[in-house]
Amino acid sequence: MAELHPDIESVILSEDDIKQIVGRLGQEVSRDYEGKNPLVVAVLRGAFVFTADLLRQITVPCAVDFMAVSSYGAGVKSSGVVKILKDLDTEIQGRDVLIAEDILDSGLTLSYLVDLLRGRGAKSIKICAFAVKDIPGHTAAVTPDYVGAHVPNEFIVGYGLDYAERYRNLPYVGILKPEVYSK
Ligand code: PRP
Ligand code: MN
Ligand code: MG
Repeated sequence: MAELHPDIESVILSEDDIKQIVGRLGQEVSRDYEGKNPLVVAVLRGAFVFTADLLRQITVPCAVDFMAVSSYGAGVKSSGVVKILKDLDTEIQGRDVLIAEDILDSGLTLSYLVDLLRGRGAKSIKICAFAVKDIPGHTAAVTPDYVGAHVPNEFIVGYGLDYAERYRNLPYVGILKPEVYSK
């Protein structure tokens, strides 16, 4: 196994865990979309790694497109303001849309996106979230249809998840050492 990055306190999802999770999600999605041709929408930037893996586990015909939004910017907390940095190139009227997200935290990003895509006349909209943050006593703004893993309410990075654009390249998901972001 590769050495742990010095800024990472502990690994919560190893490469093997991730492989298993994404394989299971691919099976669930493939079963539910049998006979359909969903458009998988990756929410950039965070979801690009997960989406690339998920697509290769989907066995039904599907298309992919990308949308870039940002709610966190360089900060640690969601600002609640979702900015569209890049829109879809695909017409989604009448399409079955599956939104692929790396993580659902407050759910603000996804609830905004679902409303937006519903307004464009998608036939169905579902959410596939690789990770969902468990925040005690708090309900997220949306409920994902597919959940990869529940993760603790810590600042986590890796497998597409960043802190100030760093750590997206880590092949595992880990908890960032607080001293890294409290500096
Ligand atoms: C992160 C993450 C999700 C969103 C989750 O994206 O990738 O998209 O925040 O938070 P929420 O449920 O509280 O809305 P970010 O805004 O950091 O952009 P990025 O994907 O480019 O890192
Ligand atoms: Mn994101
Ligand atoms: Mg981010």
